[in-house]
Amino acid sequence: MKKILITRKLIKESEDKAVKTFTPIFNTNDELYSQKKVIEMSNGCDGILSSLTDKMDKQTIDKLPDTIKIISNFAVGFGNIDLEAAKSRGIAVTNTPEVLSDATAEIGILLILGACRRAAEGIQSAQEGGWKWSADYLIGKQLTGTRLGVLGMGRIGQKIAKIARSMIIHYHNRSKLSEEKEQGAVYHKDIKSLFSVSDVLSICCPATKETENMINKETVEYFPKGAVITNVARGDIVDDEALIDALNRRKIYAVGLDVYKNEPNLNPGYSKIKSAFILPHLGSATKDTRIAMANLAIDNIDEFFKTGNCKNKVN
Ligand code: DGY
Repeated sequence: MKKILITRKLIKESEDKAVKTFTPIFNTNDELYSQKKVIEMSNGCDGILSSLTDKMDKQTIDKLPDTIKIISNFAVGFGNIDLEAAKSRGIAVTNTPEVLSDATAEIGILLILGACRRAAEGIQSAQEGGWKWSADYLIGKQLTGTRLGVLGMGRIGQKIAKIARSMIIHYHNRSKLSEEKEQGAVYHKDIKSLFSVSDVLSICCPATKETENMINKETVEYFPKGAVITNVARGDIVDDEALIDALNRRKIYAVGLDVYKNEPNLNPGYSKIKSAFILPHLGSATKDTRIAMANLAIDNIDEFFKTGNCKNKVN
């Protein structure tokens, strides 16, 4: 049986499946391994089941033993892995698409609602007590009939658009979707055109060199005054300083983030903004979804060693 390093603790059902599929090396304390430790621990292994908390950069990948043939990432995003470095060492990289789309879209909707309806301030007031109802108390932004811009109309973007149907949906994607998939959403060829009609933006695109810091000092000005920006994808897509500045100037009314640069350390600029509704990367955090993701990451390894390829290979 192949020997596989599993860098983070999985839910029991998935660890049981791993035992049946290969010889796993478990991280029983769920310790956050350093890059050095991942290299050491993978000695004698055939593959690594990594998670988004493992930074598999070129330096790390170049030092992995020659026996490593696959890095199976326990996530749909794979920005934590240098795909080219892996490819040049003959290491396949796989991800876990689809199984987390519903759970992540639900968090995408929570971000939109939480940011627009001032949930962070509301929760704080309710917990402190002594708040006083009045006709203009914690007035937020109503969503029905307003425009939702979806940046990246992949599986998660389409699900968010479907749930948010009381809004008018606009989107930008590398390519226009079929009418069946669009479901009446309006396509924008470029981000300037999309942002200019987005009362609320939901960022759902993958983090790539092209999308890095796509929300920046210049592009933030494309939005209508008082727009809301939410991000369920990856922190790298947002230049935090530019967004915090726009929030402070009230150019942007509120922000909803499930992901941000340098997780878990939030840019302190956000902590001073009352309208910031921020979650600790909960996108896929339901039991069923986490089991489905881990099981798929295990199946990816199994398929790879049985067939020499894998349908979820991304490099
Ligand atoms: C992913 O799989 O990329 C998600 O962000 C995990 O929650």
